[in-house]
Amino acid sequence: MLAMETTVDRAKEMAAQRSLEFIRDGMVVGMGSGTTATHFIKLLGARVKQGLKVRGIPSSRASDELARSLGIPVIDFHSATQIDVTIDGADEVTHKLDLIKGGGGALLREKIVASASKLFVIVADSRKLVDRLGKFPLPVEVIQLAAPLVAKKLEAVGVHPAVRKTAAGEDYITDEGNLILDCACGEIDNPQKLAAEIRAMVGVVEHGLFLGMANVALIATETDVKELAR
Ligand code: A5P
Repeated sequence: MLAMETTVDRAKEMAAQRSLEFIRDGMVVGMGSGTTATHFIKLLGARVKQGLKVRGIPSSRASDELARSLGIPVIDFHSATQIDVTIDGADEVTHKLDLIKGGGGALLREKIVASASKLFVIVADSRKLVDRLGKFPLPVEVIQLAAPLVAKKLEAVGVHPAVRKTAAGEDYITDEGNLILDCACGEIDNPQKLAAEIRAMVGVVEHGLFLGMANVALIATETDVKELAR
């Protein structure tokens, strides 16, 4: 790893480490996706090995597999309809704790898991903290058939979508079998309005604006972790 990457990864791990303070014996825990959430799941797995009793609900296939491999009991919403606390990463976080998520492609399940959580805690390195959302392209998950129609509607509301591709140049397909349109927005003046406009487009499954959902953000540099609360 390059020095810069190591520093960022260290910050992600510190944020994940701090988030363990929110976990108690007996809890149902939402387990997010992405590199920062992966640190959290590994640390949680270590606690489970030491005797912590929790049940986890993962927000992606990758997190599901990782949690099981570490011996964390994995359940779904048939076993519990409320999550005590969810720990997840983000691509952008404002000081009001509005988020862009979905850089890793798991936004749909992440939003479902977050919506079922009493407490939603974001773990992120300090590069993710922004004054306004929109520098990071906004992911929009769409039904494959509808992608050209949705793309046209997105252009009409002033954002510029591109179908997400894999490293091999193929269409990226989400865990639920959909496409992702990554939308270049520039700074978003009114995230609520944009969220409502995108929501209203037939064929959109979910978008990566998580507004008013997070309760706490643990923002880490290499040397310390700041706790922001809404
Ligand atoms: C996954 O779909 C995303 O929402 C991630 O939570 C987000 O991309 C942050 O990922 P990292 O922790 O890898 O930066």
